[in-house]
Amino acid sequence: MNDTSQTSTINRRNFLKTGALASGGILLAPSIMKAQSVSPNEKINIALLGYGRQGEVLLNSMLDITDRPFHVKAVCDIWKYSIGKCRSVLRKDSPDLKWYFDYEEMLAAETDLDAVIISTPDFWHARHTNACLEAGLHVYCEKMMARTVEEARSMVNTAKKTGKLLQIGHQRRSNPRYLHAYYNLVKRAKLLGRYTTANGQWNRSAKEFTDVNPKIYVDQAMLEKNGYVNMEQFLNWRWFKDLGGGPIADLGSHQIDIFNWFFDAYPKSVLASGGRDYYKDREWYDNVMVLYEYDTPEGPARAFYQTLATTGAGGGYFEYFMGDEGALRISENPSFTKMYRESGAPEWDDWAKKGFIRKEEAAAQKVVTKVDVRESAPPDVYDIPIVLDKKPHTPHLENFFSAIHGKAKLNSDGEHSFKSEMAIFKVNEAIDARKTLEFSETDFEV
Ligand SMILES: NC(=O)c1ccc[n+]([C@@H]2O[C@H](COP(=O)([O-])OP(=O)(O)OC[C@H]3O[C@@H](n4cnc5c(N)ncnc54)[C@H](O)[C@@H]3O)[C@@H](O)[C@H]2O)c1
Repeated sequence: MNDTSQTSTINRRNFLKTGALASGGILLAPSIMKAQSVSPNEKINIALLGYGRQGEVLLNSMLDITDRPFHVKAVCDIWKYSIGKCRSVLRKDSPDLKWYFDYEEMLAAETDLDAVIISTPDFWHARHTNACLEAGLHVYCEKMMARTVEEARSMVNTAKKTGKLLQIGHQRRSNPRYLHAYYNLVKRAKLLGRYTTANGQWNRSAKEFTDVNPKIYVDQAMLEKNGYVNMEQFLNWRWFKDLGGGPIADLGSHQIDIFNWFFDAYPKSVLASGGRDYYKDREWYDNVMVLYEYDTPEGPARAFYQTLATTGAGGGYFEYFMGDEGALRISENPSFTKMYRESGAPEWDDWAKKGFIRKEEAAAQKVVTKVDVRESAPPDVYDIPIVLDKKPHTPHLENFFSAIHGKAKLNSDGEHSFKSEMAIFKVNEAIDARKTLEFSETDFEV
């Protein structure tokens, strides 16, 4: 028998029992019901705003959904090349697809849109999101929410004012493996005991600035109209201070959101160091290291995070929580995900029998052949037997569509994402200040 599928089912059922309250998978707040504008048996009319690398990932993730609850009616991008790619993917599914080079024209012309998926560069998110919310659309906007705190705050306030839904692209919040780890393993089974420490990282190898064949360059007037000096800046916007937040915003925003989630708290202080150690042609820091202090409901905790844009050999990407009874290393990549039982901690056999975790074969654990008797025994190693049989972004998009149909609560709404991303906004400031910065209550207020 394939026990993976069996244990996944058991876990999902348990997750629904234990996790729905806090994740809001089932209970509906009145504000969510108010925001509902599309009846569950109607298709949601969608526009795509920004169809670069992530726009393509999101569309493919949407197209994977069975009984698709949406119809893509329009795409807007300032680059003909991006529009061409989108049209070719949607040739069969949306023969009536309209395309636009200007989002205001699209909003004026497409009067029956219900929702938009925004994956333009970060410095455009607030303008695009606010305009779409004001036009009566529900918005799924990629992280980082915005380039500045004030812009991000304005998005939350516009969503409140218009009563429309705002989901931010922190897709781990809808990932069944993360939901199982948080609700079942950490909160219900308490397999970590008291966890005081987290670390996380995303290291990836150095890459030259991107370029494309000059034949497909965006027209210079179009670039300037949209805030880009030239094609180099347009293609490499992440590295420019006015356009993006650098690797800490690009990659760290996903993982520091997980620290905040699993600690049930936002940090109280941040100390950070970063530099342009490798790339001299970029504005943002290519290496960043951050230390956060938390006051969690269980007591004080600390977290370390690093993102290195110069090495892929440095161990990949994961978030690691360490407690007195066990540790959890979790990642969007299942092969980096493991649990470790502290020797002397209560046995985990019952949880393994229930299918919450699965012990690794002894052979797989045998890493030390000659153990010095004074060394402590290596911890038992466990897998988390939850298989995501979809693309990583699909559950988060499904959650967005279900919320529009009034059947779910958003897993990463604008207000919670704003508070979580505050932790990121302050990192670059702390690097420049070269000292510990405290968060104040008002930082997290919208
Ligand atoms: N959730 C995730 O895992 C994840 C992964 C990658 C990227 N992202 C986010 O997705 C967003 C896009 O990133 P990307 O990697 O696709 O960037 P990209 O540069 O590949 O694509 C951006 C697209 O937006 C278009 N564009 C730029 N300015 C525009 C404007 N004013 N109006 C309309 N279109 C415009 C560009 O022509 C391009 O097609 C960013 O916010 C990024 O942080 C999220």
